[in-house]
Amino acid sequence: MPVEENQEGGLFYGTTNIETGKVGDEYFMTKGHFHQKMNRGEFYWGIKGNGVLLLMNKQRKMSAEKMSPGSLHYISGYTAHRVVNIGLDTLKFGACWPSDAGHNYEEIERNGFSARLLEVDGKPTLI
Ligand SMILES: [Fe+2]
Repeated sequence: MPVEENQEGGLFYGTTNIETGKVGDEYFMTKGHFHQKMNRGEFYWGIKGNGVLLLMNKQRKMSAEKMSPGSLHYISGYTAHRVVNIGLDTLKFGACWPSDAGHNYEEIERNGFSARLLEVDGKPTLI
């Protein structure tokens, strides 16, 4: 049985494409979010292209994981997540999350992530 958004008991999944490119020295990326129900986790997996998954916990401590075709990424609860395309082609990745997780984009709109992934001397660098 399909489950409505914000109702518990189901899993949603989808795919995202990020075109290649930069604004200044910052790569194209997703906006990033926490989940409205902060304890809800998520899986991401790489399908095409090369990217970086940026993770930030509630204490604003950051970590990063490389995404490539076949890579699998567990995003634990209480962790904001954003994907950056560092490749020369479109990055495509899949996602699967609990139906009651919800999205909180406002926190990132207000305070951003504590570090950004920029191209420095031709290489992705977390600054
Ligand atoms: Fe999410």
